[in-house]
Amino acid sequence: MKRITTGFRPTGKLHIGHYFGNVANLLRLQNEFDCFLFIVDWHALTTDYKDTSKIAENINEVTLDLLSTGIDPDRCTLYRQSDVHPIAELFLYFSMITPLSWLFRCPTYKEQVAQLKDRDIQNLGFLGYPVLQAADITIVHGEVVPVGEDQLPHLELTREIVRRFNFIYGEYFNEPEALVSEAKRVPGIDGRKMSKSYENAIYLSDEPDEILKKMSRMMTDPRRIYLRDPGHPDVCPVFAVYKLYYDDTEAVRDWCENARVGCTECKKRLAEKIIDFHAGFRAKRKEILGVPDYVMNVLSKGCERALDISLKTMAEVRKLIKIF
Ligand code: TRP
Repeated sequence: MKRITTGFRPTGKLHIGHYFGNVANLLRLQNEFDCFLFIVDWHALTTDYKDTSKIAENINEVTLDLLSTGIDPDRCTLYRQSDVHPIAELFLYFSMITPLSWLFRCPTYKEQVAQLKDRDIQNLGFLGYPVLQAADITIVHGEVVPVGEDQLPHLELTREIVRRFNFIYGEYFNEPEALVSEAKRVPGIDGRKMSKSYENAIYLSDEPDEILKKMSRMMTDPRRIYLRDPGHPDVCPVFAVYKLYYDDTEAVRDWCENARVGCTECKKRLAEKIIDFHAGFRAKRKEILGVPDYVMNVLSKGCERALDISLKTMAEVRKLIKIF
């Protein structure tokens, strides 16, 4: 089985944007690959080093949500990045051979520096974000990395670092491949991209009444004011969400374009579908919460395996670098 590696930033509860953008894909992949899934708390520090108060809680929430969707700890190795401390050592060696120019020209770096104006991220750790990611992937010899478009520059950097390492110290690491998932843009209730920071998200753990309430506020086609006005599903964010939950949306298109069903009713029907679809997640989440230390135990079992492999990798890396 080929090995998959993927990191989750500990941003807290997962929402349906995470689910359709990434998790649904992993639920399929866990049957065909040896999956290493880790919560990247060190990566969180690169931007949130001043306020670390939420990190521990967020790690727990992300892991809990992953498990509640059906990510299976018997098939996947789930762990917390900071538990596998050899990652930090590999990061150090990689940092020696990574030219600064590679990092400064990374599009995600330029973008974030421009966007996160309220935070001071002119630091070494943030610049080195992709180098840390390279260490995450290579320390367990990840072969396949499922990513969205936005992460491609980071994966390319990983491959460049691997090539440079192999060139300087001898062939050792494999170049991991990106597995680009078809990006599904999930709109939030205000029509913008669903994101925790926009406060427009529907969370996997939301209770039915919250889902109903949020969906009733969801933005619709602004040109459809009265029930008799024909709607334009292709610009309506509600329709975009319908497409995530149904393979066939012709009936919805029909009632919208031909003004047969009003937006309020249309949203209510979708809310009911979402409630139904997520029922299993909510049930599993409660079941897990009922078992003391379940999440902690999953993470420590995963850590054991990841640490074992990582220590072997580092012993070999030290030999190659001649640091015994
Ligand atoms: N940078 C990734 C993100 O923003 C998270 C991440 C960290 C990651 N390490 C990784 C993804 C290793 C894949 C492989 O989502």
